[in-house]
Amino acid sequence: MRRIHFNEVVTRDGFQMEPRFVPTDDKVALVDALSECGYAKIEVTSFTSPKAIPMLRDAEEVMGRIRRVAGVEYTVLVPNLRGAERAMESRADELNLVMSTSETHNRANLRMTREQSFNGLAEVIRAVEGRVAVNVSLSTCFGCPMEGEVPQAEVLRWASRFAELGVRGLTICDTTGMAHPAQVARMVDALQAAFAALQLTLHFHNTRGMGLANVLAALQGGITRFDGSLGGLGGCPYAPGASGNIASEDAIHMLDAMGYDTGMDIEGLLDVARHLPQVVGHEVPGQVAKAGRITDLHPAPQEQA
Ligand code: COA
Ligand code: ZN
Repeated sequence: MRRIHFNEVVTRDGFQMEPRFVPTDDKVALVDALSECGYAKIEVTSFTSPKAIPMLRDAEEVMGRIRRVAGVEYTVLVPNLRGAERAMESRADELNLVMSTSETHNRANLRMTREQSFNGLAEVIRAVEGRVAVNVSLSTCFGCPMEGEVPQAEVLRWASRFAELGVRGLTICDTTGMAHPAQVARMVDALQAAFAALQLTLHFHNTRGMGLANVLAALQGGITRFDGSLGGLGGCPYAPGASGNIASEDAIHMLDAMGYDTGMDIEGLLDVARHLPQVVGHEVPGQVAKAGRITDLHPAPQEQA
């Protein structure tokens, strides 16, 4: 069966909207625990303005203190040149540049037009000069909570512009859980046809309960890289109605049950997931950590005498 690569985004996408600051020690401990679980990549934090995302204002310290495990890539979200410089100083393995395919969401999230964002990110890619891998995450590719439909052609247009700049990968994000499986199947066909040479990652939110169905649709279309967030935390603070990503452990458990090679230590991952409510101070949506794996059987009830 095909090898599936998971990128864990809980300490970035998961934490950026959390109301209570997660102490730096806890962030470092969580990344270190996740590093032992078999992920291909961990998106550790973001180098954004501390005023915009106060939760991640300790990005340098977190990157400086995590214990890096061979074979795991440590990536960070970067919105501009300033962020790229900070990320390079912190020895990130990859810069995950971000812009939105919706003009309205891009302005809300990044305070720039899409064209300004593109020009700024193109400048970052030139400045990096291939010293570190670059991925571009395109937000709201399956719909914008303010504009509505984002035409597939528009997504492909921005993807092409970045592909021409020589990026290693593209992440196609359903920022507020508007995608449905038929739409995902069409998008994935178009992406595979146009960008077969790039690392293509799909990033789903489970806002409307379609997250795992969308993973399956993407998988059937040949995608092997997914973002997930432990416990199903997550959401963009500048996208109205945004809520949790697909829970990594639920998606990984499903794929493992289907026979895919996820490379993950699922028991270890579930242990980390079960500890997450203590870290954030509230219940989290992920289901398998609560229900147990399908192979975890219960004793039969005793017959009544
Ligand atoms: N790292 C740290 N500080 C940064 C920064 C970065 N990458 N980019 C900008 N800043 C600081 C500036 O120094 C300035 O600080 P000051 O007010 O103390 O002088 C302040 O942020 C505003 O800078 P400006 O260039 O005017 O940016 P802006 O206010 O238009 O903000 C972004 C643009 C993109 C930096 C900001 O909106 C941001 O970080 N957004 C976060 C987006 C995000 O992560 N969304 C969720 C994930 S998709
Ligand atoms: Zn997201």
